[in-house]
Amino acid sequence: MKAISSRTIVLASLVGFAVGGKIYTLNECVRGEGFYDSFNFENITDPTHGRVTYVNRTTAESLNLTYATSDTFILRADDTTVLGVNDTGRNSVRIRSNRWYHEHVVVFDIQHMPEGCGTWPAIWETKESDWPASGEIDILEGANNVVPNQSTLHTSHNCSMSNHTHQTGTFLTTNCDASVAYNVGCGVQHTRDNNSFGPGFNRIGGGWYAMERTLHYIKVWFWERDDPCVPLDVRTGAWIIDTEHWGIPAANFRNSTECDIRSHFGANNIIIDLTFCGDWAGNPAIYNASGCPLDCVTYVNNNPSAFTNAYFQISSMTVYE
Ligand SMILES: *[C@@H]1O[C@H](CO)[C@@H](O)[C@H](O)[C@H]1NC(C)=O
Ligand SMILES: *[C@@H]1O[C@H](CO)[C@@H](O)[C@H](O)[C@H]1NC(C)=O
Ligand SMILES: *[C@@H]1O[C@H](CO)[C@@H](O)[C@H](O)[C@H]1NC(C)=O
Ligand SMILES: *[C@@H]1O[C@H](CO)[C@@H](O)[C@H](O)[C@H]1NC(C)=O
Ligand SMILES: *[C@@H]1O[C@H](CO)[C@@H](O)[C@H](O)[C@H]1NC(C)=O
Ligand SMILES: *[C@@H]1O[C@H](CO)[C@@H](O)[C@H](O)[C@H]1NC(C)=O
Ligand SMILES: *[C@@H]1O[C@H](CO)[C@@H](O)[C@H](O)[C@H]1NC(C)=O
Ligand SMILES: *[C@@H]1O[C@H](CO)[C@@H](O)[C@H](O)[C@H]1NC(C)=O
Ligand SMILES: *[C@@H]1O[C@H](CO)[C@@H](O)[C@H](O)[C@H]1NC(C)=O
Ligand SMILES: *[C@@H]1O[C@H](CO)[C@@H](O)[C@H](O)[C@H]1NC(C)=O
Repeated sequence: MKAISSRTIVLASLVGFAVGGKIYTLNECVRGEGFYDSFNFENITDPTHGRVTYVNRTTAESLNLTYATSDTFILRADDTTVLGVNDTGRNSVRIRSNRWYHEHVVVFDIQHMPEGCGTWPAIWETKESDWPASGEIDILEGANNVVPNQSTLHTSHNCSMSNHTHQTGTFLTTNCDASVAYNVGCGVQHTRDNNSFGPGFNRIGGGWYAMERTLHYIKVWFWERDDPCVPLDVRTGAWIIDTEHWGIPAANFRNSTECDIRSHFGANNIIIDLTFCGDWAGNPAIYNASGCPLDCVTYVNNNPSAFTNAYFQISSMTVYE
């Protein structure tokens, strides 16, 4: 993070930023086909036990599960194959950034996200080989269309959030320790905005998700596509951004005596994936409560056409440090 004092940076005032903000400069802009260069395909066994087979890049491209143009990247699951009980799961994709990130801001411009019973899409950050010691930040995650629009941290011991924080969302749980309550983490639901996830999100043409990680806090914002209050620097993918002007975040996880952010978060990759069922979406109580039919695995096996809209369509990912 280069949180340059705006007093000392001439460019900032030239482009019209007010004094006193939290200013970052553009470090990486990933757009359309650029996702192939900046991310690796992870053909791993899903650690969350999903009804999924993550394919490699060759397979993804040949099955058109990923598709890119100069300004769009699509990531989706198979929507034609009926699966047998002995198949490993529905073909889908999980990609991981080549780069590592510490303090940074990331902005995703997303047109569409996966929807459907059994789906569990996520855009998140972690270090897989050092989980949960290096922390996990779930920027955008939900299951079965419903238990949705949630941002969550998962950490090692000794990290809890205070419910007294300036945010528009609501804490469902405040203990981030992954060993507590079956790794539910500390999750904030985006209560103010029913269009932040799933079918509602897709109906409005999506919007922007942004996350800022510093040693003092981790914040997540969401702006709908037509929100007149989208900060101009977010809308335009500006070279220089000032997060002080982004308004109250949906989620605001703050450093405190209850959670030292520095010691609970290390170098993380960015991961984008779409799994099915598994530990969250497929948990029978959660699946049933969502109003979805059958049991999760049976539904996912037998209803490929239900997953025609199970895709991410992302224009860009910009990273500021
Ligand atoms: C991933 O791909 C590698 C190389 O093709 C292969 O050896 C490995 O078995 C695959 N892993 C899974 C879980 O399919
Ligand atoms: C990709 O996966 C396919 C199907 O599992 C496999 O046949 C192929 O060898 C893999 N390619 C690479 C480069 O790993
Ligand atoms: C692959 O998917 C894209 C986006 O949905 C679509 O425009 C294109 O026609 C598909 N290509 C093939 C060969 O089906
Ligand atoms: C699934 O695998 C089991 C064990 O190998 C076998 O007994 C069963 O017949 C298989 N079922 C199908 C539908 O192929
Ligand atoms: C946090 O406070 C809000 C507002 O008072 C309340 O609705 C919510 O249930 C609280 N969450 C937790 C986990 O205590
Ligand atoms: C979101 O949807 C729920 C359930 O339909 C409704 O009760 C709630 O009022 C909505 N919230 C907003 C902010 O529109
Ligand atoms: C988002 O969260 C709110 C609050 O829990 C919930 O009422 C609403 O239904 C959720 N949105 C969608 C699209 O399900
Ligand atoms: C928990 O973290 C605080 C700092 O945030 C530290 O002072 C304390 O020693 C830690 N406790 C344990 C059991 O690690
Ligand atoms: C985070 O909070 C702890 C406990 O108050 C404090 O010791 C530490 O210095 C804080 N970290 C930063 C970067 O301010
Ligand atoms: C979920 O529903 C299925 C039938 O649809 C039922 O067999 C199962 O017991 C239910 N599980 C829970 C935890 O409610």
